[in-house]
Amino acid sequence: KAKKEYLSLFTLLIFVDLDASSWTAKVPSSVSGLQGSCIIIPCSFNYPEPKPKPSRFTGVWLKDSHEVVYHPDSSRIFKGYRGRTTLVGDLWQKNCSLRITPLHLSDKGPFFFRIEMEDLNKYSYIHAKVSIAVSSPDSPSLSVKEEVKVGGVVSASCSVFYTCPSEPPLLTWSHTRTPSIQSQQLVNGQWELTSSLTFTSTMKDNKALVCTAEYRGGKKVNSSKTLNIKYRPEIRVGSACTADFSIITCLCIVDWEPPGMVQWSLPGRPLPSTKVERHGSLTIVTLQRTFDFFDTVQCNASNTYGNATLSCSMPTNCKRKSCVCVWWGGGHIWTASRFFMRTFK
Ligand SMILES: *[C@@H]1O[C@H](CO)[C@@H](O)[C@H](O)[C@H]1NC(C)=O
Ligand SMILES: *[C@@H]1O[C@H](CO)[C@@H](O)[C@H](O)[C@H]1NC(C)=O
Ligand SMILES: *[C@@H]1O[C@H](CO)[C@@H](O)[C@H](O)[C@H]1NC(C)=O
Ligand SMILES: *[C@@H]1O[C@H](CO)[C@@H](O)[C@H](O)[C@H]1NC(C)=O
Repeated sequence: KAKKEYLSLFTLLIFVDLDASSWTAKVPSSVSGLQGSCIIIPCSFNYPEPKPKPSRFTGVWLKDSHEVVYHPDSSRIFKGYRGRTTLVGDLWQKNCSLRITPLHLSDKGPFFFRIEMEDLNKYSYIHAKVSIAVSSPDSPSLSVKEEVKVGGVVSASCSVFYTCPSEPPLLTWSHTRTPSIQSQQLVNGQWELTSSLTFTSTMKDNKALVCTAEYRGGKKVNSSKTLNIKYRPEIRVGSACTADFSIITCLCIVDWEPPGMVQWSLPGRPLPSTKVERHGSLTIVTLQRTFDFFDTVQCNASNTYGNATLSCSMPTNCKRKSCVCVWWGGGHIWTASRFFMRTFK
């Protein structure tokens, strides 16, 4: 029996809804919007066709506490809403959509629409109330494959939601490459903005990749992922051996990702490192020992992506003087110190 009653009530509701000549309004019971952005409350309304036809409509929006949220005469709008509300719907088309911008955290509502027909009827649609769920924007969702071999392609995408199609947020990247931007309408008045960035990785990209969304009103949110660009060792300028009387100190400065192994050696004789220090992607390996050789010292660094070797020969007449040796490797002579030149002149 109860089922039957529901059924007839349901039919009645459909009937009422379709009846073009009754006082009805259609709004969602709740819409969600971002603080500082804009929101459009979709709204349509109906009324019994008056005779004669009304010459003028006045559309008004109120809060359930009867504060005036929108009125064509702005002096009648409650000051907390003045300048922020616009009736974007065309009343002659029975469209009462309201725009609020910027949206404040306190704009929760509930709100309802009221129609006033000059010299005829007035009606408040208090049974069609809409609330606003105001939220702060979430961090963008950022996706990127973090581990890439140097020279490989990095493809990153960053997306955010927004509710105001005329004022999409601004998406920016910490990388200078120009991204491509796309927006897409979702359900419930939500939009999604996606920024896609593609670039060829270099060693310099081994840091955080940040995507920032800036909303109208200045609110900023960001997400970041630290890229891990892999590359084979390179031995950097600054690597040197210095001999000071009886002690020889050699430095091998290796730039690599990930770090691997460094081996010092004299021809046919490996030498143990004295100290290993990491500074970001650089590893500084020290060899220190009594000056007991006049041979070629080698620093050989290797990781899973390759290896690099530099050699250095101490001048034979170096003992009892300060001197620096020349590194060479890959056909390049790296440093020639004045001491060294003098020694060989
Ligand atoms: C009402 O007006 C708004 C704003 O112009 C528009 O986006 C919406 O599509 C209209 N609704 C209908 C049902 O025509
Ligand atoms: C990301 O957001 C945090 C928190 O708001 C802020 O402290 C940080 O400076 C932002 N980073 C960048 C690169 O904008
Ligand atoms: C450096 O070390 C790697 C790995 O141990 C080895 O394969 C390579 O031959 C070495 N290079 C030189 C020049 O000794
Ligand atoms: C070391 O580098 C040389 C030349 O760059 C290469 O021929 C050799 O295969 C590398 N060895 C390893 C273990 O990567």
